[in-house]
Amino acid sequence: MNNERMKVFGFVVAIAVAAWQCDGSEHGASYEIFPLRMKTGHGGRYIPEVSCQSWRVGVEAHNVIDWKTVPLDCEGYIGNYMLADQYRSDSKTVCREAYFYAKTLNFTAKDIWVFDVDETTLSNLPYYAQHGFGVEPYNSTLFNEWVDIGEAPALPESLKLYKKLLSLGIKIVFLTGRPLEQKAVTVTNLKIAGYHKWEKIIVKDTSIYDGKTAVTYKSSERKKLEEQGYNIIGNIGDQWSDILGTNTGDRTFKLPDPMYYIS
Ligand SMILES: *[C@@H]1O[C@H](CO)[C@@H](O)[C@H](O)[C@H]1NC(C)=O
Ligand SMILES: *[C@@H]1O[C@H](CO)[C@@H](O)[C@H](O)[C@H]1NC(C)=O
Repeated sequence: MNNERMKVFGFVVAIAVAAWQCDGSEHGASYEIFPLRMKTGHGGRYIPEVSCQSWRVGVEAHNVIDWKTVPLDCEGYIGNYMLADQYRSDSKTVCREAYFYAKTLNFTAKDIWVFDVDETTLSNLPYYAQHGFGVEPYNSTLFNEWVDIGEAPALPESLKLYKKLLSLGIKIVFLTGRPLEQKAVTVTNLKIAGYHKWEKIIVKDTSIYDGKTAVTYKSSERKKLEEQGYNIIGNIGDQWSDILGTNTGDRTFKLPDPMYYIS
């Protein structure tokens, strides 16, 4: 930062601090500079009180839940977040922590790491970029057409983590909400994207799990893995439903995803 910019920055900080002292701490009761009244944006309703960044943080922290679409006014913000550096940087932070944790472990041949697929292993950003980054209501017909092409790219930081875990000798299990009918295309897509090795890939048998939540489905499949003698030492996904429920694993890692919510 050069001197001139430093001065401007210092000035802005000084004003911000002064404003905070006036409106916030001094009178105790008035917190108007931090308006926190949340209206979760179902159906893309405008949320005047809450910035899109606050909404995204609320989503990642699982304070904002069960939302159907990204608030209409946040399309530009979320698009920028996804396409510029921040999404990649946030993903990298998660994957690095996961690797640092994995490196400390002494594992056995029955130790596995669970990866979700969509927005964890493979990216559907090419699709969502054409559909308002989550502002448009989910359209299963269109989304499945995209999945069936089998050309979703890898998430680069996740692919790095995957390779590092393999090189440590940890076995990988993919656990995805994609249905049985998409198993073949998912396997092909994973290989094209650079994922060549895994212990198991578990897709959703809709004859068993029809109408069940992802939390129920994934908990139940992880329980089966443990009953088969596997230890889940790590579990990574972009949805809270990947890491909530039972048999979640010794440690969980939440990748960012402000485009859709699956319960
Ligand atoms: C892993 O094994 C090494 C060597 O036996 C031991 O020193 C270390 O404490 C173990 N670490 C953990 C986390 O169990
Ligand atoms: C999904 O998209 C297709 C093609 O644009 C359209 O015909 C269909 O009505 C949409 N479905 C829903 C539920 O919006």
